[in-house]
Amino acid sequence: MSEQLFTIHLDQELGTINRNIYGHFAEHLGRGIYEGIWVGEDSSIPNKQGIRLDVVEALKQIKIPVLRWPGGCFADEYHWKDGIGPRSERKRMVNTHWGGTVENNHFGTHEFMMLCEMLDCEPYICGNVGSGTIQEMSEWVEYMTFEGESSMADWRRENGRDLPWNLTYFGVGNESWGCGGNMTPEYYADLYRRYQTYVRNYGENKLYKIAGGANTSDYHWTEVLMKNAGDLLDGLSLHYYTITGESWHEKGSATNFTEDEWQNTMKKAFFMKELISKHGEIMDKYDPEKRVGLIIDEWGTWFDVEEGTNPGFLYQQNTIRDALITALHFHIFQEQCERIQMANIAQTVNVLQAMILTEEEKLVLTPTYHVFEMFKGHQDGKLLSIEKKEEDTNEIPQISISASKGEAGEITISLCNLDLHEETVCGLKIPSFDIHTSDIKTKILNADKMNAHNTFEDPNVVVPSELKSIKMIDNAIEVKLPPMSVVVLTII
Ligand code: AHR
Repeated sequence: MSEQLFTIHLDQELGTINRNIYGHFAEHLGRGIYEGIWVGEDSSIPNKQGIRLDVVEALKQIKIPVLRWPGGCFADEYHWKDGIGPRSERKRMVNTHWGGTVENNHFGTHEFMMLCEMLDCEPYICGNVGSGTIQEMSEWVEYMTFEGESSMADWRRENGRDLPWNLTYFGVGNESWGCGGNMTPEYYADLYRRYQTYVRNYGENKLYKIAGGANTSDYHWTEVLMKNAGDLLDGLSLHYYTITGESWHEKGSATNFTEDEWQNTMKKAFFMKELISKHGEIMDKYDPEKRVGLIIDEWGTWFDVEEGTNPGFLYQQNTIRDALITALHFHIFQEQCERIQMANIAQTVNVLQAMILTEEEKLVLTPTYHVFEMFKGHQDGKLLSIEKKEEDTNEIPQISISASKGEAGEITISLCNLDLHEETVCGLKIPSFDIHTSDIKTKILNADKMNAHNTFEDPNVVVPSELKSIKMIDNAIEVKLPPMSVVVLTII
């Protein structure tokens, strides 16, 4: 058993944690949208206008602040006009990136906006630069946000929506270095400048324009984008996925892994910290005031697909390891909250590191879902400075911690123990703050096995419970963190 002591300084606020760090991403991929979210009005699965209610109810509990759609790679072959009007007449297309399935376009702009209204979250739409025209992109924004009379706004009304929608976040292309057009950064920066010119602000609607950013450690991409287009963008994205091995051929299994693979996966997840600080340094050079947000609009674990499933559907299970990786990412994002304005885990339902898995009418919540639920108190909080008695010099820290203060003065402290075997006792001091254990609400997510996960047959293997063992010792909170655990304390 090891011990660690932390002092949390209530009078040292380091920035605001943008709630959008807890954002999500849902692409037309596998069973992510179709079945996972959209079942259609005639389905026997309970739904509201085609959107499944059990999924909406579960997602509401985690307070999704923003949802990115329609891709991903899919965004750069999506033509929005195919996805509006009577569903029976909508054009069918081949989803070439993801399994070559036929996309019937039944889930389009109106359905997505309805989903966001049901979830009470902000839409983040990614436009098509790779295979779409400037006119198409510009008309999409006009269709969604123009209140007056115009061919696009009138068309929206004909399709049943009178008032424009509020739309803030708009992405100009996705992975333009790869599936979004295989471009060089110089070429994309020029295209970005041109496309974004016609992405207009109508009336009161003010867009936050996000340029497609780098793949992992392609720092040159960030340099060129900031230099050549930095004045015309509000956000620059970054994509990084955690896999187990060193290459995409060694993604590893979601549930069947060794202790070494656990360590390696944690190391790979922790690399996010270095990536953010290095991309951030380049951004600082061109934007020292940190006006431009770094938008991590795709992150999460990417493992081998589950046996017997379509390799193009990216369906994977989710264990306590994913839960710890999630907590670690949130701590890294929060620590850099001055630059990070949004992050979107990939992806919400049935795809990659999902919150929810479905099988027809059945639904199961993953360990990752529970971390989102436990951490929601951090949204919009003020990040607090934490002093560690002894710096952890390990390659990856055994204990990771973050603390924030909410608007009503409540304090949220999240901790995780990444070790597979060792329990750690953490002392938490909060100077000039009188605490009693009765003021502290606790939640713990842990497991006995490193690959513990929830299934349709056994959905409650990894679920949060109350952590009963906290004590006050000399006005410090003593928390025992079992191995492989995530703990959140809320002090009211
Ligand atoms: O999230 C799956 C895919 O990963 C996205 O479509 C793409 O942007 C990224 O390569």
